[in-house]
Amino acid sequence: MFTDTVLSGMRPTGALHLGHYHGVLKNWLRLQDRHPCLFFVADWHALTTHYESPEVIEANVWDMVIDWLAAGVDPTKATLFIQSRVPEHAELHLLLSMITPLGWLERVPTYKDQQEKLTDKDLSTYGFLGYPLLQSADILIYRANLVPVGEDQVPHVEFTREIARRFNHIYGREPGFEERAEAAIRKLGNKLGKAYRDLRARYQEQGDREALEGGRQLLEQSQNIGMEDRERLFGFLEGGGKMILAEPEALLTEASKMPGLDGHKMSKSYNNTISLRESADSVTKKIRTMPTDPARVRRTDPGEPEKCPVWQFHQVYSDAATREWVQKGCRSAGIGCLECKQPVIDAVLAEQEPMRARAQPFIDDPGLVRDIITDGCERARTKARETMVEVRTVMGLTQG
Ligand code: TRP
Ligand code: SF4
Repeated sequence: MFTDTVLSGMRPTGALHLGHYHGVLKNWLRLQDRHPCLFFVADWHALTTHYESPEVIEANVWDMVIDWLAAGVDPTKATLFIQSRVPEHAELHLLLSMITPLGWLERVPTYKDQQEKLTDKDLSTYGFLGYPLLQSADILIYRANLVPVGEDQVPHVEFTREIARRFNHIYGREPGFEERAEAAIRKLGNKLGKAYRDLRARYQEQGDREALEGGRQLLEQSQNIGMEDRERLFGFLEGGGKMILAEPEALLTEASKMPGLDGHKMSKSYNNTISLRESADSVTKKIRTMPTDPARVRRTDPGEPEKCPVWQFHQVYSDAATREWVQKGCRSAGIGCLECKQPVIDAVLAEQEPMRARAQPFIDDPGLVRDIITDGCERARTKARETMVEVRTVMGLTQG
């Protein structure tokens, strides 16, 4: 039977924090129980923006893998690897670049957005322009069908679908199929035949779904062709030939509800994070010094939870009874803010406790992590090599 393969990557640009845990990682844990999963450290992707600070990447690759393991990612279920250790990704990226129109890359929304946002970096590089295509190679090389990503990355998966479609369109034709399809188009007559060709090109080259729908309707309504030819042209419309590269689907990861210490989204750039394996002392201190409703100057002033970042933490961590206690106690000045924070501190520490425990053996013996990655890279490479044999063959690069 056909099982969906899941693939996702993460850039090693900083320590993972509770925002990553409540967003991405918990989702990975669910997926690893249901599907074959490939999770990898996207170190080449990190270099596209951090080419001037390789030390950041070096420092974060292994820590990130330990963070994954700490969170419960299980190397007996999922394949964990490092992108740069599977050089076939780079070869596929190169080969795909031959058929990738520049305009497609320039139009990917993250290209301009990031250039405008990350003003301290010069991102007018060849590598950065190719970022989405490298991501396509990551996905297509494993014929992964499901790609869990955040909203900002959905256009990259869409782009990947278009690249796969274009590749299959150019290299995936079967002997004889095309001639038959062409003969069937001629039977449609001049006008319909031309309309069909136009719609097909729009769909295959630009991924225009409306054109696909239009093509189907045209075929359904045509009186000139029989069943067989109609079926043929349906197939031809969508590609029809051999499917060498599979079109993936984005699996949208819901944005994490985890707030940062200041009530804004938890993010390294806001300096409001609690890292995954932060020490108990530091976590306690950070939460004790979190800002609260500014109207509560004195202990006797009543407060409003809706205006307090601590309340957002209660919404993630506390049960109904505790939340009720906060609402009442805050508005009546019945509880103090430190008192209110204690259940949050306890809950965060309880959440982190098993993570610290799972990480410890890997910290004590880094060889264990290296072994997991060596094994994962080998497994990933085996699959990647299979795809590359086919890709090279259809692109005229057979050796021997
Ligand atoms: N670009 C992704 C990000 O910034 C990371 C990534 C690289 C990725 N290759 C991938 C995600 C392939 C999914 C699939 O988050
Ligand atoms: Fe915030 Fe709790 Fe203090 Fe109210 S009592 S202001 S919710 S910390």
